Amino acid sequence: MNGSSQEHFIGLDVGTSMVRCVVGTFDPNGSNMPSIIGHGQAPNQGMRRGAVVHVDDVAEAVVKAVTEAERISGKAIKQATVNVNGSHVSGLNSEGVIAISAANREISHEDRLRVEEAATIVNLPPNREIVQFFAKNYSLDGQRNIKDPVGMTGVRLEVDAHIVTAASPNLRSLDMALEKAEVFPTHHTVSGLAAAEAVLTRQQKEAGTVLLDIGAGTTNLIVFEDGEVQHVAVLPIGGQHITNDLAICLKTDIDVAEQVKVQHADLHRDPKKMNAMVKVGDKAYNFRFEDITMVIESRVEELLEYVEKELHKIKRNRKLPGGVVLTGGTAKISGIDEFTRDKLELPARIGKLHNIGGLVDTVEDQAFSTVVGLMLLDMLLLPALPPVNGRSESTKALLSGFLGRFKS
Ligand SMILES: Nc1ncnc2c1ncn2[C@@H]1O[C@H](COP(=O)(O)OP(=O)(O)OP(=O)(O)O)[C@@H](O)[C@H]1O
Ligand SMILES: [Mg+2]
Repeated sequence: MNGSSQEHFIGLDVGTSMVRCVVGTFDPNGSNMPSIIGHGQAPNQGMRRGAVVHVDDVAEAVVKAVTEAERISGKAIKQATVNVNGSHVSGLNSEGVIAISAANREISHEDRLRVEEAATIVNLPPNREIVQFFAKNYSLDGQRNIKDPVGMTGVRLEVDAHIVTAASPNLRSLDMALEKAEVFPTHHTVSGLAAAEAVLTRQQKEAGTVLLDIGAGTTNLIVFEDGEVQHVAVLPIGGQHITNDLAICLKTDIDVAEQVKVQHADLHRDPKKMNAMVKVGDKAYNFRFEDITMVIESRVEELLEYVEKELHKIKRNRKLPGGVVLTGGTAKISGIDEFTRDKLELPARIGKLHNIGGLVDTVEDQAFSTVVGLMLLDMLLLPALPPVNGRSESTKALLSGFLGRFKS
């Protein structure tokens, strides 16, 4: 797909609670469908809310996850497409304008790259950098909503873009952890985009859909419309906050609270269950089911209020026909889809992997969506770029990588 001679592709999700690694290839039976041939995961102690806070701990978790994936797949893993996450990641809109100078006024690939580069000239604080660029649509001599201007003729070419930026120190820490683990990041991408690649259909991206990847420390939000990324945000709320709330309200240990959540979280409000007492493992605790539900409901409601605010910023609250697609480990809370539907007044469903073969049993788990998407992006993106000034990719090279992919 990316024209390289590479036979296997790797996604590496450095998550707040877990590092996950997936190895994929094209179906050997000739269907050309992506097929999973290996996976690995390891608990990660070195992150807070999606950002690296302890490089050695993250490196250790990466080594463990990668070694397991190597063992299962039988392939040596030296490089991977890796996610960028954390509340320091944010999206902003930008515009670019250029004049077409060719005598016949025909728009070339170079013109398209030039206008996209013009859109990346934004005033950023010195410690921030662009990690991703999405062209939403182009205008040619005032004619709006052009998807690809190449081959058209005109004088003034404009682009509406969405740019994702991140704090440079956080990116450096992630790179340091990867360097220690001896994994070269061929591409970096926001977690939400990767999860969307794994679970959203083309139809959902066209119609207008918001994907929520609700993890342990963060919620990644990405809005698609007309097939293009319109908005990216990372909210600093995830499943760990629910666990912490439960520990406080139930006056119990964090690990008991985590078990209570994983085994009993249910937002259906079944009246028959509400007064029941909860059992964790072999022990019966004096926790009322209703109390547990109330704690979880309030945190999920708070999260959805932030989501509503993000949608309001782009005037898409209650206006996305494709609705909400939920994924990430916290999307396993029973009834979270219906709860989301009621709160956001949009259709809501749990994301499912599509068109993927091989060892799918493990990776069908919602917590694997991001890493499967990273593996798919590893297949789709342009071949690996050589290191620049010790960094894996310069911003410009990274942009051209993504521009190449998103235009194709
Ligand atoms: N059955 C379940 N019910 C409720 N929550 C669950 C369940 N299983 C896992 N979780 C929660 O999902 C979270 C982990 O999700 P995930 O693996 O997607 O996060 P992550 O990628 O490590 O974190 P982040 O994306 O924030 O960096 C944890 O908070 C965990 O408690
Ligand atoms: Mg995650």
